[in-house]
Amino acid sequence: MRVKRAHEDPLKNQADLIVVPLEEREWKAYESGKKKRSDRYRWLVSLAGKDFVQELSLREFTGKKLAEGLLCASPSDQCRYVLIVGWSDKDDQRFRHLGHRIGTVADRIKASSVYLHLVCSTQEEYHLQGLLEELSLSSYAFTYYKKKSTKHAVSTMSLLDPPKNITAIAKAAKTAADAVTLARDLVNLPAGVCTPSYFVRRVRSVLKGTGLRVKVYNKAALTKLKAGGILGVGQGSAESPYLVTITYTPKNRKRYNKVALVGKGVTFDTGGNSIKPAGSMMAMKCDMAGAAAVFASMKAIAETAPAVEVRAYIPLAENMVSGNAIRPGDVLRILNGTTVEVLNTDAEGRLILADALSLAVKEKPDVILDAATLTGSCVVALGETRSGLFSNDESLQAILKECGALAGEQHWPMPLAEDCRGQLKSSVADTKNIGGRWGGAITAALFLEKFTGDVPWAHFDIAGPAFLEGGKHYLPGGATGFMVRTFLEFADSGAKRFFS
Ligand code: BES
Ligand code: ZN
Ligand code: ZN
Repeated sequence: MRVKRAHEDPLKNQADLIVVPLEEREWKAYESGKKKRSDRYRWLVSLAGKDFVQELSLREFTGKKLAEGLLCASPSDQCRYVLIVGWSDKDDQRFRHLGHRIGTVADRIKASSVYLHLVCSTQEEYHLQGLLEELSLSSYAFTYYKKKSTKHAVSTMSLLDPPKNITAIAKAAKTAADAVTLARDLVNLPAGVCTPSYFVRRVRSVLKGTGLRVKVYNKAALTKLKAGGILGVGQGSAESPYLVTITYTPKNRKRYNKVALVGKGVTFDTGGNSIKPAGSMMAMKCDMAGAAAVFASMKAIAETAPAVEVRAYIPLAENMVSGNAIRPGDVLRILNGTTVEVLNTDAEGRLILADALSLAVKEKPDVILDAATLTGSCVVALGETRSGLFSNDESLQAILKECGALAGEQHWPMPLAEDCRGQLKSSVADTKNIGGRWGGAITAALFLEKFTGDVPWAHFDIAGPAFLEGGKHYLPGGATGFMVRTFLEFADSGAKRFFS
């Protein structure tokens, strides 16, 4: 998509679709007849017809919500369609919502060029990136297996008085949207296709030529590493497990901080011998969404070249039922030497993450962030659209929540509650892999914490937002690519604040 400067005279801007955000104050003035002689009013009449105020009134337009508005075929020869939407600064994601709305409408009316009649204040310039991201992502669809495919995408967008760095903003938006698309595709692919070895092949092919270092641990290397968690979870599957690390190192710098990103990569989760009921298993191809988000972020990081080192740790395994699968009661030894009594084979994500976190700690990062579709409890607690954010460092937790707000991804702070720790005691091993009935997301996080050493660490439980039954605001149904943009924001701005 090309983003260009529009002519300052709105009358001179031709496009398939003209979008006009209307604030409550301006709307009230029109409705009460006070501002009826202004140039802007006359322009709106030319675009939307002389009865547009009446039409909007009938629709109970207030200007307070982006969801309201009017889309009509335009009588003017400036455009084919005009879209008037509410525009309120009470919605802190209004730029993303607008981007998504424009994209959805453009698809419906097959508009290729859009003129957005909106002037941004300097504080709002940053949000243009979000608008452009959502505009391109709104045409995302997983069409690989469909006879009829593709949504219509906008090819040019003109903006009134865009900021000087609009080219850089558009480029950053494209990098982020491409990474989100990669993550979505990987998660939407059937688990019979996206196996651990397929994932490894994609990492190799996508990152070829980017300058990132890729290291793949196969079964033999995992045995050498003593990665008993990954091997244990993977042993029931005909597909071999892997651990992949990917490293980005900043150039021309002697000293830099090191960020480790860890993502759960269970390519399919049947639950194993503690088998899931059919309904709960249906969407379990999404259980590698953390891994996909981490991998896709690395691809983007190769382009954005942040000032910190970023190393990804991606454990990959398929959790299957078979004669070789682990049984409830089996004991696994994790890479850092900790033994785990596996009382529920469906709590497998934490077992592969335990190895990955332990390896990360061994390689001495300054901060570790992990993303995992870890517990159903977290979705029960927080709903589908936000992650549960746990951390052993309050300032890190706060910074990450803010990164999420900038990136259009919601994270809700959750506690590493002291009183839940006892639930993980085992009479046989150092710990067991499940707690009791209460606080399932918390006991899962407390389990992970045992493998994070003294490193500042944050854990995102993304079981809700990684994969949605139906679309929610600008997140699509199916895979969402959730976490990519928070990771990018952290590598870009969050890390600077955290390490300063
Ligand atoms: N992959 C699931 C968690 C999940 C649930 C992801 C819903 C996405 C949507 C995870 O491996 C799991 O099965 N967790 C169990 C833990 C329990 C056995 C302690 C759960 O949440 O029920
Ligand atoms: Zn499970
Ligand atoms: Zn799982």
